[in-house]
Amino acid sequence: MGTRGRDGDGGLLAGLVPAGVVARELVADLRRDGDDSGLSAEEAAVVAAAVPRRRHQFAAGRRLAREALVDLGRAPVPILPGPRGAPTWPVGIVGSVTHCDGYVAAALGEASRWRALGIDAEPAAPLPPNVLERIASATERTWLGERSTARPEVAWDRLLFCVKEAVFKAWFPVHGTSPGFRGAEVRLDDGDGFVASVTGRSRASGDQVEVAGRWVQGRGLLVCAAWS
Ligand SMILES: CC(C)(COP(=O)(O)OP(=O)(O)OC[C@H]1O[C@@H](n2cnc3c(N)ncnc32)[C@H](O)[C@@H]1OP(=O)(O)O)[C@@H](O)C(=O)NCCC(=O)NCCS
Repeated sequence: MGTRGRDGDGGLLAGLVPAGVVARELVADLRRDGDDSGLSAEEAAVVAAAVPRRRHQFAAGRRLAREALVDLGRAPVPILPGPRGAPTWPVGIVGSVTHCDGYVAAALGEASRWRALGIDAEPAAPLPPNVLERIASATERTWLGERSTARPEVAWDRLLFCVKEAVFKAWFPVHGTSPGFRGAEVRLDDGDGFVASVTGRSRASGDQVEVAGRWVQGRGLLVCAAWS
């Protein structure tokens, strides 16, 4: 099992999302090269007081999301933040946006096929001290230790964090709550797949829900996609 080679021609994200989901990504240093001219007036107002890096990341995410909307046959409309910052997608669309230094991505699909999508990108580097203790269960820490021994080239602790961020983004739009990092128990398969069992009090269901996804490490990044 090598670190997934899905970042060939199609980029990191394209190989992770299910068929029918449109993935768009940008590899660029937006601290230097950013541009926020493509925002609508309402979108620009959202980040008017933000630092340039945040404005540029927000604008790049909106641009990628609008490209994906067009690919899905929709109009490239403004996308405003809704409750707790989740993007408000046009009716019939689900999607997700992520950005970290050097990378921005958006993934969108039809709401008739998915309840929600979540994507997250992180630097492929160990978590800062004391974070793992807050986000990982005892079971997760056991498999993290085993995997770290077998494949030290993967930033496993950061991967767990990345998975839980993507799962949150695929959970929140449906349930309107945060299960908390300890409310999601993650299992990895032997390839690039994962399943998170999420338990949380929610408007839609108080039951445990399984959120599936895939991950990749490449180009100094970890990228995860989750869907339900
Ligand atoms: C919201 C959160 C996921 C953002 O993640 P991040 O790694 O800091 O930043 P990213 O760049 O990857 O993602 C930011 C994007 O997430 C999206 N987002 C923000 N809040 C969201 C929410 N409540 N639901 C879904 N998507 C959300 C937005 O599109 C945002 O970008 P934008 O403001 O430019 O539109 C994070 O701050 C958070 O709250 N994490 C908690 C996760 C958690 O509790 N997990 C428990 C296990 S399920």
